[in-house]
Amino acid sequence: ISFTLMMIFAAYILGSISSAIVICYLFGKGDPRNQGSGNPGATNVLRIAGPFAAVLVLVFDILKGTVSVYASFLLGVDAISIGAIAIAACLGHMYPVFFKFRGGKGVATALGCLISMGFNLAGLLLGSWILVVIVTGYSSLAAIITVMLAPIYTLFFKPEYLYAVIMLSILIIWQHRDNIRRLLRGEESKIWKKGKVNE
Ligand code: G3P
Repeated sequence: ISFTLMMIFAAYILGSISSAIVICYLFGKGDPRNQGSGNPGATNVLRIAGPFAAVLVLVFDILKGTVSVYASFLLGVDAISIGAIAIAACLGHMYPVFFKFRGGKGVATALGCLISMGFNLAGLLLGSWILVVIVTGYSSLAAIITVMLAPIYTLFFKPEYLYAVIMLSILIIWQHRDNIRRLLRGEESKIWKKGKVNE
């Protein structure tokens, strides 16, 4: 148990490294939490600092989840604890201890966790996300629809992680509450639109 608690703590700490904030500063753009949608995530970094910076953020945020869960696998942690470790990595990303607990929405980090849980599951989710982005143009809507589908896919492919995935889905939808408001008002900005976002 104490070993599992250490892994949960380590995942939270790793998740807390907000790559969007670090990379935006490195690109001379300042804090992404004061620009665009205000979200320190790959989508908003695309608006603020362009595609190269956005890809770096995306890869790093995915890796936070992938590494946390994969390391737990290698160390022989059981499925319930792995679920808790995945949630901890995403909570770190959402409420980072290093950045005044104002973090991102957890989409990339959750996908990263699921990559370690199963390629088929992660592939289906990524496919769903890409499809919604292509059809609608909204990164946030794609995330919301994808996490709503996630428990169904998990039930079929990795039922041992069902509760963890449901928890992650709820957390991610909650983090998108401002996006949901903007979507309902028709004020959400499309993924390829640069610059300002109506708040
Ligand atoms: O992953 C975050 C995305 O779903 C929404 O980002 O910046 O449009 O609020 P943003």
